Amino acid sequence: MSLHSEVKRVTVHTLRSMKANGEKIAMLTSYDYSMAKIIDEAGIDVILVGDSASNVIAGHETTLPITLDQMIYHAQAVIRAIKRALIVVDLPFGAYQGNSRKALESSIRIMKESGAHAIKMEGGVEIEESVKRVLSAGVPVMGHLGLTPQSIYKFGTYTVRAREEMEANKLRSDIKALEEMGCFSVVLEKIPATLAKEVSQSVDIPTIGIGAGSDTDGQVLVIHDMMGINKEFNPRFLRRYADLYTIMQDATKNYIEDVKSKDFPNEKEQY
Ligand code: KIV
Repeated sequence: MSLHSEVKRVTVHTLRSMKANGEKIAMLTSYDYSMAKIIDEAGIDVILVGDSASNVIAGHETTLPITLDQMIYHAQAVIRAIKRALIVVDLPFGAYQGNSRKALESSIRIMKESGAHAIKMEGGVEIEESVKRVLSAGVPVMGHLGLTPQSIYKFGTYTVRAREEMEANKLRSDIKALEEMGCFSVVLEKIPATLAKEVSQSVDIPTIGIGAGSDTDGQVLVIHDMMGINKEFNPRFLRRYADLYTIMQDATKNYIEDVKSKDFPNEKEQY
């Protein structure tokens, strides 16, 4: 992947200009080469190698079990596929919390071993030391506020966050703090649309929403959810753009039938 390739690459500066020009940012997660290639060639702006891989790839209930090595493996596969999109990689649970030195080491491993362009961390003022230390090494940082899934056991539920004034006020000051620290963008997950609109207008850096209404500067969805690969996850904010579960299951049934009936392979499909 070359910085000098003919395709005009999306950078953290592109995203800031997009916000300034009122152009919405489209972000999707991806965890492997084949899917990343499809969405990069379709023109996606940002690919998040999310720790949601822990759920949709590994089948865990939460994002907590995924390791730094596993995140790097996914990021390497995605990076090999892309020509245009900005690649952001989640620092997994345990790779930065309460330890800025560890945050820096984890970020450097991701950047060096995968070739990704930026990292994402969950939290506000609590992670200030880590954010500043990672930024001091020249690694762009995306923030993540609202429903931060690495703190699910603190929240106890995946319900909408910051409905109460105290939590909304913390989010208001956290997003300002993340901007002042130097984050290039912030994900806002599952918060009231009015609050997302207000805080998006309060900063110059782009906000990317998931379950945060239409007035954030961009949107992100987990690719397995929006492609309809899984059936169990049906939050109100999710729009399904395909039903790959049914398409892939029907294809599998047809294949099984063809094998059992000896229809596959036929004469043209053999040597
Ligand atoms: O890991 C992930 O997929 C995320 C998005 C939901 C923003 O953090």
